[in-house]
Amino acid sequence: IPNPSNPAHIMSDRYVVIGNPVAHSKSPFIHAAFAAQCQQDIVYERLQAPVDGFERAVSDLIAKGASGANVTVPFKQEAWRLSTRLSERAKAAEAVNTLSFQRGEIIGDNTDGVGLTRDIADNLAVPVQGRRVLLLGAGGAVRGVLLPLLALAPAQLVIANRTVEKAHVLAQQFSSFGDVHAAAYAELAGETFDMVINGTSASLSDDLPPLPQGVFAVGSLAYDMMYGKALTPFLQFAQAQGAAQLADGLGMLVEQAAEAFQIWRGVRPDTAPVLQTLREQLA
Ligand code: ATR
Repeated sequence: IPNPSNPAHIMSDRYVVIGNPVAHSKSPFIHAAFAAQCQQDIVYERLQAPVDGFERAVSDLIAKGASGANVTVPFKQEAWRLSTRLSERAKAAEAVNTLSFQRGEIIGDNTDGVGLTRDIADNLAVPVQGRRVLLLGAGGAVRGVLLPLLALAPAQLVIANRTVEKAHVLAQQFSSFGDVHAAAYAELAGETFDMVINGTSASLSDDLPPLPQGVFAVGSLAYDMMYGKALTPFLQFAQAQGAAQLADGLGMLVEQAAEAFQIWRGVRPDTAPVLQTLREQLA
């Protein structure tokens, strides 16, 4: 029988973020802050798995009694395949960023999409319902957010991608969840949107998706899923084009973590102070 007065018997629940690379992940900081705030006794560490060693790393974690894991690049699809049970949003995303290990089950969820929509709707206080939304990119990042975005009932959602066929495949797959269309960048000329979300990896290489001029409607929001010290080329372009509000993906990062924390611990942390601290660290 565990004796709570004897520290040797107090076992903290253990979580990790698995990725490769993972050294710069902010998840341990974020979850430690949530745990302190919610008085939850957890240990949260980084785990770098070899690119071909994800499954092994997960079996080891389960064998050692870990409670769950966040999954980051490049393992989100493998985590989806490995899960024995999946949430609806993880099924749609075909990717998993949050694993819970429970009684022999590997339960996979994906909190990236609600991370984005909570940041937009709650932190930035920008409504999505009835608005025209342009989503740039058709890779994993975009697939991961489509279901939660469509759940907010935008008037229309257009997916633009360099390789337009990939956008068509996504639009087709998600057509039963809302008014979603695909377009090539050049086809956006003459159209305006209330919200333009960059889900491409262009910002990683300091590139700008080939947007035509004039897509930002008066009062529009430009959102880049990437974050960093400086404005990305996309956000610089948006600013020059007259977007009313600019946002990077730091809020999405904190919100996806909060959702994972709630899945694991059953309590919802207050994200505002954690986001503020991260913002100060970046400055
Ligand atoms: P992720 O998992 O981050 O979404 P991915 O699956 O490799 O990564 O997808 C990258 C996305 O960014 C793709 O939509 C890619 O467009 P293509 O499908 O045409 O390759 C997009 N992308 C990357 N660099 C880009 C750039 N410089 N301009 C526009 N789109 C870019």
